[in-house]
Amino acid sequence: MKKILLALGVVIALTACGGGDEAAPAPAEEVTGDFDATAARESYEASCIHCHGQNLQGGGGPGLVGGDLTADEILHVIQNGQKTMPAQNLPADEAENLAQWIEAQ
Ligand code: HEC
Repeated sequence: MKKILLALGVVIALTACGGGDEAAPAPAEEVTGDFDATAARESYEASCIHCHGQNLQGGGGPGLVGGDLTADEILHVIQNGQKTMPAQNLPADEAENLAQWIEAQ
């Protein structure tokens, strides 16, 4: 994990210094929308990644990519849990941002 973060840091540093150079590596693809994807990814990594996987592909919990839950439904799961998933105690604004981000995956 540390190594991945380190590698990511290097890529970001290189990209930042690229000065618009066409040869610079493209940034990792990230969904966009009416949410803060960076903050959502941070919340996800802190609270969900160990059960739902590095890329939301699932693990202990189901995969969250391409699901048809609405952001409201996802928010409900985050705040109340669902069956064997415990409720996740996130600040409301953070949980809402995260739910919107997951909906867009
Ligand atoms: C301790 C493991 C665990 C953690 C931590 C966890 N989940 Fe889950 N999650 C599960 C399990 C297991 C299920 C399946 C529950 C069921 O059987 O319906 C689930 C289900 C879900 C579902 C519903 C999926 C569906 O198709 O019904 C969503 C959405 C979800 N989790 C989002 C999150 C988010 C967002 C976080 C972090 C804030 C999170 N989970 C943290 C284990 C976890």
